[in-house]
Amino acid sequence: KECRAVTDVTDLARTAAAMVAPGKGILAADESIKTMSARLEKAGVAPTEENRRAYREMLVTTPGLAEGISGVILCDETFRQSLSDGSTFPEGLTQRGMLPGIKVDTGAKPLAGAPGETVTEGLDGLRERLAEYVALGARFAKWRAVIVIGDGRPTQRALRANAHALARYAALCQEAGLVPIVEPEVLMDGAHPMSRCAAVTSATLLEVFAELRDFGVQLDGIVLKPNMVVPGKDSAEDVTPEDVARATVDTLRPVVPEEVAGIAFLSGGQSAAQATANLAAMQQLQAPWPLTFSFGRALVDPALAAWKGDPQRVADGQQALAHRVRCNTAALKGDYTE
Ligand code: 13P
Repeated sequence: KECRAVTDVTDLARTAAAMVAPGKGILAADESIKTMSARLEKAGVAPTEENRRAYREMLVTTPGLAEGISGVILCDETFRQSLSDGSTFPEGLTQRGMLPGIKVDTGAKPLAGAPGETVTEGLDGLRERLAEYVALGARFAKWRAVIVIGDGRPTQRALRANAHALARYAALCQEAGLVPIVEPEVLMDGAHPMSRCAAVTSATLLEVFAELRDFGVQLDGIVLKPNMVVPGKDSAEDVTPEDVARATVDTLRPVVPEEVAGIAFLSGGQSAAQATANLAAMQQLQAPWPLTFSFGRALVDPALAAWKGDPQRVADGQQALAHRVRCNTAALKGDYTE
């Protein structure tokens, strides 16, 4: 099998730019075995290894997917599985003109001394794991930190621990020739107003970029994957996509250096239509970085509901995914209608 030489810094910047290329976004299909199994069960599909594989095959073989998707994030299980034609998932993605990505964190675990907060783990042995993923065809990686809003939360302790881990992960990725997706997610859970989400997102990103700088991470070789700035999901605050767009860009502008290759938002539990409308509104603003989507649920939920694990309904699932991708690429180009 062809083995890529270790990349230099220009390769990193080139890959990162390709991930956020105009009119394209990133598909997050990297749910852990546990999360994916729960979503399959909810859709009435047996949570087997084969069904997890068949589901991801349905997604990535969607005709024309590469027209709107630059790269797909997979989990370790899928990365080692094969499509029906015998090619591995990373090979199948590459053949179809998409970059293979791999989620490399091992999950958010309770943080000692910070009740109700977590730190994302997975640094031990990461250098060796990254080398293996590169050999299997990975071009970029993902690590998700989780920040909660609540009474006295987040603590500075949780922000620092998570930012530190993200920076060590990002530095290791770049050493291995992989573009790190740096994902600090401030959760929507809670009844807080949008202004509180803005303040916490700002504090989180300040900490993240301070650590990235300390660890010598090359900013044009990363993609930032943040939450949008939205009210808590139990808040009664009524906001328009224009409000969300303005709050998000105004929050990010002072804290996210212009050198980052781009920003690819997560959907975070917003409905598919809401996430797309917010993304569309952001394109109307003058932002200093390329802005795109790296949605999970907001892209795949309709596809899972249409497929339902039935081999006869693969085309229905693919049409549902293709529709969401088209909506989001239209949002990027400024001509979105549902
Ligand atoms: P959602 O868009 O469903 O939040 O998923 C994105 C993701 O990759 C979470 O880590």
